[in-house]
Amino acid sequence: MEDPKEYPEAHHTEARVIKEGILVGSEALAKAPKVYGIPTGVEGLDDLFFIVEVENGKVVKKNLGGIPAYSVFNITGVNDTGKSLMAEQFTVKQASEGHKVAFITVEAPANFVIASLKLRAAAMGLNFEDFEDNIIMIDAASHTPLRENIPDLLATLAYAIKTYKIKFTVIDSVTGLFENKEMLARGIVRRLFNFMKKWYQTALFISQKRSGHEELTAEAAGGYAVGHIVDGTMVLAKEVIDSSFKAKLYKREIGEIVRLFRIDGCRMAGHDTRVHYMEITDTGLVRILEPIGGGK
Ligand SMILES: Nc1ncnc2c1ncn2[C@@H]1O[C@H](COP(=O)(O)OP(=O)(O)OP(=O)(O)O)[C@@H](O)[C@H]1O
Ligand SMILES: [Mg+2]
Repeated sequence: MEDPKEYPEAHHTEARVIKEGILVGSEALAKAPKVYGIPTGVEGLDDLFFIVEVENGKVVKKNLGGIPAYSVFNITGVNDTGKSLMAEQFTVKQASEGHKVAFITVEAPANFVIASLKLRAAAMGLNFEDFEDNIIMIDAASHTPLRENIPDLLATLAYAIKTYKIKFTVIDSVTGLFENKEMLARGIVRRLFNFMKKWYQTALFISQKRSGHEELTAEAAGGYAVGHIVDGTMVLAKEVIDSSFKAKLYKREIGEIVRLFRIDGCRMAGHDTRVHYMEITDTGLVRILEPIGGGK
């Protein structure tokens, strides 16, 4: 052993071999979940993901029909771009199919969010009463320890996951969990991400983007590189048509607002990489439309 005077840290922590951290290929593969699609409840989105499979010796591209199971997605954009609506549509969709969904609300108290979820269900043509108890609200907006202390939040979520057999987790928003301590953003998001993986959750993390950052880049949460931690990012943007150039590009009138959507990377599946138009309908549903350059 090294002289503890020279290497004080060696005195406390002798280097150990973490054998559990070593896996041969087949061992790691045995633990790999099969990739399949999870419908999002957002029209036009599910068709944008695909996987490549080998069939009879040939490589074929297959539509996934949703985001990959067990993925953790970051949905980012400035205020009023439809992030919360998307999170709500996803929650309602999965709950209506009989799955338990944890909705961690950090911005608005649970009673407001549940009312909004009920409206979303109505807009989607679903009867909320049939599945309302499949939604497990975790109210970090009203309970400071849940918002300020990540271990408390994770312990509470683990308890809820075990109690209700939860498969899906939505956090609106992760940005609210590192308010005033933005240097810690990456660390917090990484802990949340690792937790989702450990508990086999398919998860959506909403993160707020400052308007100073260029639209449609995934410089989420003020450039804290959240995108590098999660499995994939969806970027939502709105642009004011304030020049004839934009009017021509987006085929809109000057003074109108155009909403845009893009998938910015996904580790677990192939995906469409184009910028798409999106809309928020009068009833408050996000829909992904055609790519801005045309095509299907
Ligand atoms: N019936 C509706 N219900 C709710 N929102 C609607 C409805 N119809 C249109 N909208 C639009 O959707 C927007 C709300 O989007 P959403 O709350 O998802 O934004 P967000 O990206 O979560 O914003 P923030 O970062 O402020 O939380 C409203 O600003 C409004 O323009
Ligand atoms: Mg919101």
